[in-house]
Formats: sequence, C-alpha cells, structure tokens
Amino acid sequence: MVLIIAFLLMTLGKLITCAPQDLSGKMFTFPQKTDTAYVKITTPNLQLGAATVCLRFFTDITRAYGLFSLATPGHPDSFHFVANRYQIGSVQFAVGDVFSYFYGHSFKLNAWQSVCGTWNANTGLTQFWHNGNPGSRRFTTTSHLTGAPFITLGQEQDTYGGGYDLYYSFVGMISDLHMWDYVLTPDQIKNYSYKLTFPSGNVLNWAALDFQVKGRVLVEDEQKHSFK
Ligand SMILES: *[C@@H]1O[C@H](CO)[C@@H](O)[C@H](O)[C@H]1NC(C)=O
Repeated sequence: MVLIIAFLLMTLGKLITCAPQDLSGKMFTFPQKTDTAYVKITTPNLQLGAATVCLRFFTDITRAYGLFSLATPGHPDSFHFVANRYQIGSVQFAVGDVFSYFYGHSFKLNAWQSVCGTWNANTGLTQFWHNGNPGSRRFTTTSHLTGAPFITLGQEQDTYGGGYDLYYSFVGMISDLHMWDYVLTPDQIKNYSYKLTFPSGNVLNWAALDFQVKGRVLVEDEQKHSFK
C-alpha cells in the first residue's frame, strides 16, 4: 500500500515538474498556421549584458514568421528574430524592445539552415548570422535585459506570454536551439553551423531543455539535411 502511494506520488511529481529533456537528434514540428500552438521554454530570471541565440530551421513559407521570441514583463520584444519582415531574407532583430533590420540573407526553402543573433550591451551592437556567415553590424541598445523570461518558439509575442498573430506564426521544423549569456566568436558560430564542436548554451541548451508544448506541436526525430 505504502509502495503504491509512493509510486503514485512519484509519477504525479514527474508530471508537474517538467524536468529538462535532452533533445539531441530531435526537432519540433509546427505543422499548421495557427495562433495557438507553440513551445514555451522555461529558464530562470535573466540578467544579461550580452547574448547569443542560435537555432536551425526548415520551412517552405515566404511570408514573415517569428523564429525566436523572448519577452520579459513590460518588454514583449526583449529578444526576438522575425524572418522575412519586409522582403525575403530580411530579418527584424529586437533587443530590449529596440528593433533593427538586417537584409540580404539568402534563406532557402525546404533546407535546414542555421541562424544566430549576437548582442553585446557594452557596444550595443547586434549582428545576424545565416549558415555561419555574418551580416552587417547594427546598434540596438546598451540596456541590460532583466526579468522573468517568457520564451516561445512557433509564435511571436506582442505582449508578455500572448498577443500571438496568425500571420507571424511559424510553420516548419526547428531544432538545436541554444542561448548563451555572451557573444560567441565567429569560429564558434561557424562550428555551430557545421555541427562541429561548440560550447552548449549556458542559458538555453538543446541537450537539457525545459519546455512545454501548447497545442499541435510535435517532438520528432530530426530528418537529416537534404542532399543538394
Ligand atoms: C571547431 O570544431 C573543431 C572540430 O571539432 C575543433 O577542433 C575546434 O577547436 C573548434 N573551434 C572552436 C573555436 O571551438
């Protein structure tokens, strides 16, 4: 009897506390245009003077879509990437609610590709990287990022934890998300892109990700790069 109760409590405990999961070799599949489905990623309070976010994605949509959305209370656009904001290959990259725009990245349809965004409060400079290649550098903000982060994949937040818009929803697959509290070197970003050796994210780590799926998003084995 005691054993049965202990077992039930353990099972319940597992359901309530979402322990970090190793998603190596996995991907999130976002199969529908919707304003309800997304992945929420949990991480402790932030106190950042610099950051790098990298992820890989695969899609066939050419309209604008959010790739990564980090809000803090009162600051829905604390750190985000929106692809194809004005034209294909343009990126809206926000830090601390300040928007900057990067152009001329050659996003490919139906191919895995990597993107990284770096920012450092000392200089206020941000830079966007596609498949290990840097874009132009731009000033955003020298303010630090602080507060309880609400992080979503698949939807772009217009308010803290909400304000999702069908027309920015992501359809496709996302994998290998990492976030660091410093700016990766160009060689580290190249290594990330080529799947060589790089330091795991110390803010978000794909191999130990604390997340919850909302609505129709699937965790599946990653399909390998297409041969081209
Ligand atoms: C990049 O990866 C290679 C191969 O794993 C490794 O030898 C090298 O040290 C890495 N470079 C950096 C900057 O981490």
